[in-house]
Amino acid sequence: MTNSTNKQINKSASKNILITGGAGFIGSHVIRLFVEKYSNYHIYNLDKLTYAGNLENLNDVASNKNYTFLKGDITDETYINSIFNKYKFDAVIHLAAESHVDRSITNPLEFVKTNVIGTMVLLNAFKNLWKNNFKNKLFYHVSTDEVYGSLGETGLFTETTSYDPNSPYSASKASSDHFVRAYGETYKMPYVISNCSNNYGANQFPEKLIPLFINNILHNKSLPVYGDGKYTRDWLYVIDHAIAIDLVFHKGKNSETYNIGGFNEWQNIVLIKLLCDKMDEKLEKPIGTSQKLITFIKDRPGHDLRYAIDASKINKELGWTPSVTFEEGLTKTIDWYLDNNKWLNNIVSGNYKKYYERMYDVQ
Ligand code: NAD
Ligand code: DAU
Repeated sequence: MTNSTNKQINKSASKNILITGGAGFIGSHVIRLFVEKYSNYHIYNLDKLTYAGNLENLNDVASNKNYTFLKGDITDETYINSIFNKYKFDAVIHLAAESHVDRSITNPLEFVKTNVIGTMVLLNAFKNLWKNNFKNKLFYHVSTDEVYGSLGETGLFTETTSYDPNSPYSASKASSDHFVRAYGETYKMPYVISNCSNNYGANQFPEKLIPLFINNILHNKSLPVYGDGKYTRDWLYVIDHAIAIDLVFHKGKNSETYNIGGFNEWQNIVLIKLLCDKMDEKLEKPIGTSQKLITFIKDRPGHDLRYAIDASKINKELGWTPSVTFEEGLTKTIDWYLDNNKWLNNIVSGNYKKYYERMYDVQ
């Protein structure tokens, strides 16, 4: 690893910051935080608007003076080079990715194109722009805990856990992490990487467990639990992830990795039953109604048993800790989906229906 000097991104200086994937779930929360908090930064949101990108996520900040949306594909080298030359981005916070494990099993190549090639195109553009002087510049790569593979019943992922990805998605993210590190070593390009656990919250596309199940409960559809449901994930409220990204961006050390997690492990089936009961309460149905929709189905191939993050480094070094409990975060999330029926219906009335039928073998 390269020397871990403090890179000192100066908060008071004006800057052009490129955030990729800002129309997606986590990206939209990061954009909002940066646009509202740092009026001296100009935030450029680059997004291809794939099925997962939705500009409605950013209606409230779209007309801010320090915000610009750029529609484009991170794999399009000509376009990416042109915007780097035009806007001279001081820093990149890279979130754009294909992010759903199940889709990576159906279409792995798409994940290599976006997650690996797309990251490479951005790295090259950044390197070529600043190679003569990287002072006060930073490439921040947002990654996942899935690169570490699967834990058994015990143990936690730390920043030094060996990479051992099991799905095409996690393999593509692992590969992109390696390239970011390699650019740091080879070209002395300043970078940070964070590897986060499962996020939940407002604006998450209803292909992921929590919003998918909320939507199915609302439509009285079965709740497809993979395998025996005894898989475990560590859940983090998305706004706490955005806050962690802000901290790592400004205070993280050059060439370092930070693990981010919720200290919040749940076995899928236990979480699903809790979600069912909370939905019954909100919808004023007898407790137990939604649990009747639970259906165990064929397991996800290569399903990782357990993820759990040791977030003590970011806690000790940067003072980060989750700000909401799971109970609070889940309630806020359910309330958001109930209050934003239009957002959800716009999604599920489009191509989503075809995806759902293919994925869950619905006739
Ligand atoms: P998401 O799928 O909701 O959003 C991804 C965004 O990237 C979308 O707006 C999409 O339009 C855009 N995008 C996709 N391909 C693109 C391309 N070729 N060019 C430009 N834009 C493109 O994803 P998310 O859940 O918000 O995840 C964001 C990042 O965080 C990803 O890198 C993911 O690996 C990482 N991550 C996610 C989680 C999680 O639980 N969701 C946890 C840890 C890390
Ligand atoms: O750990 C971080 C990762 O978390 C991120 O990098 C990924 O982008 C994000 O999608 C998420 O990956 P998972 O595969 O853990 O999330 P997902 O919501 O797809 O599934 C969570 C758990 O629920 C997992 O054990 C599979 C299970 N599941 C999921 C779906 C969609 C079901 O049992 N049924 C389902 O229909």
